[in-house]
Amino acid sequence: MQPAKRVKDISLSGIRKMFELVGADSINLGLGEPDFDTPQHIREAAKKALDEGFTHYTVNKGIIELRESISDKLKRDNHISASPESIIVTAGASEGLQIAFNALVDVGDEVLIPDPGFVSYDASVKLAGGRPVPVKLTDDEEFRMTPEHVLENLTDKTKAVLINSPANPTGSVMKKEDIKGIAEIADDHDIAVISDEIYEKIIYDAKHYSPATYSDNCITINGFSKAYAMTGFRIGYVAADEIITEEMLKVHQYSTACASSISQKAALTALEGPQDSIDVMVAEFRRRRDLIVGRLQRMGMSCVMPKGAFYVFPKVDDPLEFVEEALKRDVITVPGISCGIYGEDHVRLSYATSYEEIELAMDRLDEFYL
Ligand SMILES: Cc1ncc(COP(=O)(O)O)c(C=O)c1O
Repeated sequence: MQPAKRVKDISLSGIRKMFELVGADSINLGLGEPDFDTPQHIREAAKKALDEGFTHYTVNKGIIELRESISDKLKRDNHISASPESIIVTAGASEGLQIAFNALVDVGDEVLIPDPGFVSYDASVKLAGGRPVPVKLTDDEEFRMTPEHVLENLTDKTKAVLINSPANPTGSVMKKEDIKGIAEIADDHDIAVISDEIYEKIIYDAKHYSPATYSDNCITINGFSKAYAMTGFRIGYVAADEIITEEMLKVHQYSTACASSISQKAALTALEGPQDSIDVMVAEFRRRRDLIVGRLQRMGMSCVMPKGAFYVFPKVDDPLEFVEEALKRDVITVPGISCGIYGEDHVRLSYATSYEEIELAMDRLDEFYL
């Protein structure tokens, strides 16, 4: 059997490969998910859905109560006016990215993606037949994408620009004027902005803005994995204008049919129920961020202070050697090159693990880096 070239040419995430090395005593700073439990009331909602036999297909776009609740959330938090008809509930933000790229991109179209950036962007654009164009983000600009970056990389083949704020792997948060500026470029040049807002709620010293507040040429992608510690539920959503939503729906229908019925009920409870678990989680992430950044800086690393998400992305002398030396001491880290060529001088460390474990991990890194 010969695999398709388009699939053969992409590789599995380097981050996943690191997880295969995790041993019993390892401290895993490679993680991309909150280490907190899913709040009890959300788990109860999932159990209730099961007990009541809510275990069948739902309508493709997702149950109307959930889409109405997402529509309210988008209006309340993001000043986005999206009717329930222009929302699709997906199997995580991951599926949201797939259906957005597949609905938008023709063979050969270019999509600007942040570099360093989330591992899926490059592969997902390629799977959709497009050509990812890495937009170089640098630590002296705190890894923020700006309208100037977009203009520099724009060609007559550009179909879309992907923005991710707060960002994986850098923790950078884009400024309002940059989000607005990129939304205006999208309008002027008739391209789409795909906005991955999965870390929206995990933000410290900054405010989150959505490009869809300023332009209709936007696809907003979000989900429940990070804000509500629901990674295993595989539940998220996309919102866009009704025309592109109908195209995304085709891809969604023929690949997933609908998101898990049980997870949809849990997501509804997440949105409608108490939100205090988010504040507790974010306060703890902030404490850990301050710890890890302080310790890395004491080791002499240059490390931009992350304003969101739960990763730090310091510059180190020899990243591959660093990852190996850390591994010898049972600390899992991720080489920055896994997040794109412009991440090659860095490593990614996640602080989605306990304060005590981070302290221990930093003691071990001190052994060879201090
Ligand atoms: C930037 C970014 N977008 C999307 C996702 C995927 O999230 P989900 O679990 O909702 O598929 C992740 C997961 O790590 C991420 O870091």
